[in-house]
Order: sequence, then structure tokens, then C-alpha cells
Amino acid sequence: MLRRLLLVLSLVLPLAARAASAGSASVDERVRDLLAHMTIEEKAGQLAQFSSWGELTGPAANTPLGPRIEKGEIGSLLNVTGAAASRKWQELAVTSSRFHIPLLLGYDVIHGFRTVFPIPLASAASWDLDRIEHAEHIAAAEAASTGLNWTFAPMVDIARDPRWGRVAEGAGEDPFLGSAVARARVRGFQGSDLAAPDTILACVKHFAGYGAVQAGRDYFTTDITERVLRDVYLPPFHAAIEAGAGSIMAAFNDLDGTPASANALLLDRILRREWGFKGFVVSDWGTVRELMIHGYATDLKDAATKAFRAGLDMDMQADALGKYVPELVRAGVIPESRLDAAAGAILAAKFRLGLFDDPYRYSDEAREKATLLTPAHLDAARDLARRSCVLLKNNGVLPLAATVKSIALVGPLADNPRMQLGAWHAQGRAEEAVTLRAALEKQFPGAVHFAAGCDVRGDDTSGFAAARAAAQASDLVIAALGEADDQSGESSSRTSLDFTGPQLALLRELHAAGKPIVLLVMAGRPLSLEQAGELADAILVPWHPGTMAGPAIVDVLTGAYNPSGHLPISWPHSVGQVPIFYAHKNSGRPEPQNKNDRFYSHYLDAANTPQYSFGYGLSYTTFAFDDLRLDTNVLKTAGTPLKITVRVANTGQRDGEEVVQLYVRDLVGSVTRPVRELKGFQKIPLAAGESRDVTFSLTPADLAFWRADMTFGAEPGDFEVFVGDNSDAELAAKFKLE
Ligand code: GLC
Repeated sequence: MLRRLLLVLSLVLPLAARAASAGSASVDERVRDLLAHMTIEEKAGQLAQFSSWGELTGPAANTPLGPRIEKGEIGSLLNVTGAAASRKWQELAVTSSRFHIPLLLGYDVIHGFRTVFPIPLASAASWDLDRIEHAEHIAAAEAASTGLNWTFAPMVDIARDPRWGRVAEGAGEDPFLGSAVARARVRGFQGSDLAAPDTILACVKHFAGYGAVQAGRDYFTTDITERVLRDVYLPPFHAAIEAGAGSIMAAFNDLDGTPASANALLLDRILRREWGFKGFVVSDWGTVRELMIHGYATDLKDAATKAFRAGLDMDMQADALGKYVPELVRAGVIPESRLDAAAGAILAAKFRLGLFDDPYRYSDEAREKATLLTPAHLDAARDLARRSCVLLKNNGVLPLAATVKSIALVGPLADNPRMQLGAWHAQGRAEEAVTLRAALEKQFPGAVHFAAGCDVRGDDTSGFAAARAAAQASDLVIAALGEADDQSGESSSRTSLDFTGPQLALLRELHAAGKPIVLLVMAGRPLSLEQAGELADAILVPWHPGTMAGPAIVDVLTGAYNPSGHLPISWPHSVGQVPIFYAHKNSGRPEPQNKNDRFYSHYLDAANTPQYSFGYGLSYTTFAFDDLRLDTNVLKTAGTPLKITVRVANTGQRDGEEVVQLYVRDLVGSVTRPVRELKGFQKIPLAAGESRDVTFSLTPADLAFWRADMTFGAEPGDFEVFVGDNSDAELAAKFKLE
């Protein structure tokens, strides 16, 4: 009799759970109800994530996914692409698990899904938050149409060392710009309704301090103070969480000796207690297992214990949490409340995504076909790509004059549809990308002489002769040099910032032909222009512009679009200066005006300043800044915001856009303060001859930092503001905070 009753209950309860979970119940109520009926093993199954065999982004843990999903031992997969495939995995999970729990299906949608947008470092150079948000919404719609419901983005790691290949994936060196871009990307991915079929869960990464890897070497250790962590590396994460990011990814690196995946300061104290984060934390690939390799855990069970205790909720690919948490809970080593918190946060995401109401909402083959690579998506990719181009030098050769009747197009990036997509190009396909060669030949039929000239690797110069001949036969040379898609991004650190292979030699060869040269730098990081720059009459940085690289670059070259990009990262003269960034400390011996005294902070063989500064970018028109005025020179701690107004004029002959930047210096603090910090920016259109006032407001909260006593706040004292179009802006004014 008892057995029969238990059997009936085991059938009825799940239905009851589902019934209770539908209707008007809140997500929290539905989660609580479900957890109350789940076993410890079923809860622990939610903590495990594995990669499908479609793509791997790290060492694989061999495990049979199907049987383990049927046993409820897997809560999420990554790298499943395609509506049909996602439906297959969802059906398996939903039909075989007692409570029909769907899977989170994650993927690296870093700068587009099938329509590839410029790499994140490039789109950050647009300083155009609306278009960045729009691009991520398109990426989310495309990814969601194929069954994905989660992206491992935005990557918000502050990077001040371009030797680190992952500088390509973020928004550069600055916490203020990085925070603004992080918010825009989260809004784009998640929209206002996670259950909508064109939004996906964001996952802000890599928490935290990953961009500070020593020597720019990927996966290496970091050595930063908690103050630098909080002042520089954490703000974009906090911004993303405040924008509602539903998940966060713990980084590979250790911080002050504790690996991020087991770091309670990060995952508990800061993320949950200080920031009130309610989402869940997923490890990066295999990092729980790597706790042993760090020398931080004796075995996988110890690693699982330390990571789970610290606040890690989901284990990507290490097969550790799902395996050991049940016995740790049963042994009383870890309270079941911790398991409920972790599994509950993951289940809450699934409820918010609407997966319990309709697990197949994201697996619609018809919508997939109708959504991917639409003309509107391609237009948006082209528009953002041209707005991401940064013009570093122009002696008047751009925009191309009508007198240019023949063009030599040379270089390994000129006609390589895969390289232009950049790192992490998801499901972008080379055959769907439009190269610069294709676009230029369409724009100038019969007038383009193409010669690749060389590759980005090796020492083969056999192509030089054809390139030289093309230059000699043309009025002007366009040299598309840079990096392949796999020379930046993950696991792509370099000890040099030079052009790789024989590219610089090719440029010299072209220069010998005596024709004007437009140098295009198509790369995932700043490259040294110390030598190349002198050989070029113009330097334009399209970075890796994505699917629509060709049309976007041609729009800029012809002047159809007046370039408006500004550097999101300092551009070093050479790798020897690295790390180099504008918001540096003054030191006790800064560079003096008169340099006859040699005892000051400098190099014997290089400048202290970058070749091109953070925030720098030229236009085909010119802009002027004047009439800087403050509505008061005393900002009260409890008073109204300080209003800062500047007059900006387009003093040239072309309509254009300017990025008006506001920097602040805190002259004296309880700790030393940077010589400048970006505290505001506005990208504004200005017609030729037009001028307008641009106004910023500053509050004491904008001046807050982590003080000597490790409290966060502003300090009364003297400040300076600087306004202009790069971090060297000279138009200045002073105010006091009282
Ligand atoms: C990789 C990357 C991370 C990515 C993850 C899944 O190793 O570090 O950024 O999201 O694995 O592909």
C-alpha cells in the first residue's frame, strides 16, 4: 500500500509543482516551490555545464551528454547552435527530467552571431552607446532565433596592456567608458523582457581583474591592490550588474593569491553583499579543476568545496560541482541552503527566460531563417563599423579625391573575409563577408589594381613585385595591413606590437613607388606605428570591422561617411612603453617643462606619452572648443550638481560628429590620484559652421574613489576640469569641493 502511495505521489507532485509554478506566481515563488520538491541530486544537476561537441573553447571533459541529461545531471550546455539542435537537447532535458527542467544554452555572442559586428574594442571606439546597444540587440535576436538563450558577454575587462590579445574583446582602458559600454551591451542583450524571443541572458565577464595579467600574458597571474581592483577593474562589472545582467563569469586568474572562481571577496562580499547581485556565477572553462593547478586545492573535491563555498554557482566543463556537492551537503560540509541558493538562482534565470512556460520558444527554425543576416542587420553592421573607424593621420589624401583614377589595393587584410571578422566571430561566415577589395572594386569599377603582397605570417616576399607594380600603375596606394582573426582574442598574447610577417617591409616597398599611401590598420589591438606611420600619408584604423568591413571602410575612404571614431585605448609608440594609459599617477618626479634636469621619470630611448592618446580621433572637418564655464566654482558635498558648459564649433567645410570629453583631476587626496579621469562624454553631430553649447554635470559621487581608509567617497579639496576631444585636452577650469 505504502509503495503504491509513494508511486502516485511521485507522479502527482511534479505536476503539482508545475501547476504551482504557472499562473501569477512570482519567479521567486515558482523557484521556492520547485526546490521544495527536488532532491539534492536534482538540485546539484543544475550546477553542471558542459560543451556540446560542436565547438570547444578549452580542454574538453569527456562525458556522455545525453545519458547525463536524462539523469538530470546537467543544467546547461554551451556551443549548441541551430534551432533544430537546441530543440533536440531541450526535448531530451524537458521530457526526461522529473520536473521537466529546461537547459540554459549558452554561446559566445561577443560581437554578433551570424551578422558579425566590429570587434568590441572597435565598437567602443565609436563612443556611440545607442548603436552599440542596437548591435547587441540584433546579436541577441539572431542568437535567440537559433535556440540560444544565454551569451557569455559582455566582456568588460579593463585592459591597459595591448600585448594581451583579449584587449580586442573589451572596451579598452577606461573605467568610465567601459562602464557606459557595459550598460549599453547588457541593455542590448536583455532588453526589457528576458522572456521575449529576441532577448537573451547576459553574462558579464571575466570577474575580475583578468585584464591585469602580468606581462600581458593570457591566463597568467595578476598583482594588483584591492584599491586598483575597485577603482579601475570593478566599475564596468558593477555597471553591468546595475543594468540587470543576470549572470557573471568568474575569471581564470588569481587575485592576491586567491583564484577568482574560489574568491569570496569577489563572489560573496563584493558581488552579493555590497552590490546585491541576485543572479548566478558561472566559472570560466574548467577553472574549478584548475584550482588544483593553481596550487589552491588538493583534489577536485577540495576544489569543488572551495569554489562552491566562495560563491561559485555553475561549473563550466570541470565536472566538479555536480559530482561533489551532493555528498558535501549530505555530510554537512556545506549547508543545503547554499545549494538552494545556487540552484535557485539558475532556475530563476530559466523562469525569467520563459523556458518553463515554453522550452522551445527559442528553437524556431522558421524564425531562424527569417532572422539571420537580414539586410537591416547588415546595414547596422556596416553603420557601426564605419563609426568605429579611427582616423589617426591625414595630410589631406582622404577623403579620396575625384582626381584619383586608379588605386593600388595591397595587403593581407584587403581581401581576406575571415581575418576581417576578428576574434570570437561566432557563426559569422567568411563567404558572407564583404571584403574591402570587393567593395572598392564595386565603388571604382576597373580602377583597382589588387595585390595581396604578403601574408601576416612568415617571410615570403614573393608577392612584393606585383604589389610594387600595382603601386606604380596607380595614382594612390591603399595598404590594408594588420592581424589575422586568430592573432588577437583568447590565448593570443604577443611580446611585440609590430606588424607581423613581412608587412612593414611591404609598406617600405610600396613607399618606394612614390605614390600617396593610405594605411589601414585592421587588427585586434594597437600596433606600433613608429616606422609605418612615417611611410603613410593617412592612417585609418578600422580594427576588425566584421561582415561588412568592405562597404564600411569604403564609406569612410570616399567621404560618404566622415570618420568619428576616437581611441578607447592609448596607442603606444612601442611595446616598451606598455602598460601605458592616460589616467596614470603623477609620481614625485613627473616630466618637467624644462628637461635640462635628467632626474625625472622618463626613458632614455622613448617618450612617456603614447603615439596617439586615449580619446584621440580625427575627422574630415575640424572642431574648436572654447568658452568653458562653470556655474559655480564651489561644489557643495550636499549641494546641487556642478554645471560645466563648453562651446563646440565645427570650423570646417564638412558636417561631422565630435566626441566631447570631460576629464577631472583631483589635485590632492588621502591617496595619490590619477592626473586625469574621464567623467563624461557626449557624441554630437555638428553641421559645417555650426556651433553649440555642450553641458555636463558633476556631483560629489562622480568624484568618489577608494580612499586611504578603503571607504568609497569624494574628498573635499581642489579639482580641475578639462574639456576637449582627447585625454590631452587643454581647455581647463578649477573648482572646489566643500
Ligand atoms: C573561454 C573564455 C570565455 C568563454 C568561455 C566559453 O575559455 O575564456 O571568455 O566565454 O571559455 O567559451
